[in-house]
Amino acid sequence: MKIFSGSANRPLAQKISKELKIPLGKVEIFTFADGEKRIRILDKVLEEDCVVVQPTSPPADSNYMELFFIIDGLKRSGARSITAVIPYLGYQRQDHIFRDGEAVSLEVVVETLQSTGVSKIMCFDLHSIKIPELFRLPLVHLSALPLFVNHIKKDNSILVSPDMGGIRRIKELSELLGNMPYAVIEKNRDLATGKVEAVDLSGDVKGKTAIMVDDMISTGRTMVVGSKLLLKKGAKKVLVFATHPVFSDDSKEILENSPIEKVVVCDTINVPAEKKFKKLEIISISGLVAKNL
Ligand code: R5P
Repeated sequence: MKIFSGSANRPLAQKISKELKIPLGKVEIFTFADGEKRIRILDKVLEEDCVVVQPTSPPADSNYMELFFIIDGLKRSGARSITAVIPYLGYQRQDHIFRDGEAVSLEVVVETLQSTGVSKIMCFDLHSIKIPELFRLPLVHLSALPLFVNHIKKDNSILVSPDMGGIRRIKELSELLGNMPYAVIEKNRDLATGKVEAVDLSGDVKGKTAIMVDDMISTGRTMVVGSKLLLKKGAKKVLVFATHPVFSDDSKEILENSPIEKVVVCDTINVPAEKKFKKLEIISISGLVAKNL
């Protein structure tokens, strides 16, 4: 097996290669002055099973193109099979039409990905249960929830879904934790402005440590408005867990200055030094990836 990395998350690819005791393969990624990329596979891959690690996190467009070209380079160099490890799948939140006239962006990128010659895809915690249906190729859909289990203290704590869409996730985690109690926040998001508000809470968080769990943190606003509501409803403190640290805009400042005590995420997306902050803890998915390759 040969493992290659795009430029989106080399630290993760390095960890996976260490787990598997296979050195990272050599790929040349050259960016022209106009931003276009030229990819060249430098290793011999004829009749080899190859793996490419490339989350399509921001900048999603550029990371997708790089992934497509690496797969194409491997295919043209005679690889026997190509597994794309895409721990975070960009555009997954636009998986259906919310308002008339919208494009289903995820379907477009999945179709393009499937036309590149990739053999298998590995993803983590996809946003909705319907997304796997979009794939015609084998999809290994993994979850970070089992990794979170070892980091959650059950005593006097309650799990919380920050929105209705996360109920399935919170029930699954509750089961993994021996039916730990959970609560659900009712969240509203204005599709035009992106503004979020936590409207209501079902469940009793009084005097407890509230542990909010989500698939991703983008601007951080969902977690922050949620934490404020939980504290207003009597929670003792708030911790948050999310698989994907998308960390857009000023999420670092928003989370740092919030009443949230700890933010736990995975390395599905690389968090550069300038986006890290004191309350942040990062758990690696490398072992899970290596085990499932
Ligand atoms: C939405 O349904 C997702 O599960 C997340 O709650 C959302 O994407 C987080 O976004 P933000 O951090 O910008 O509020």
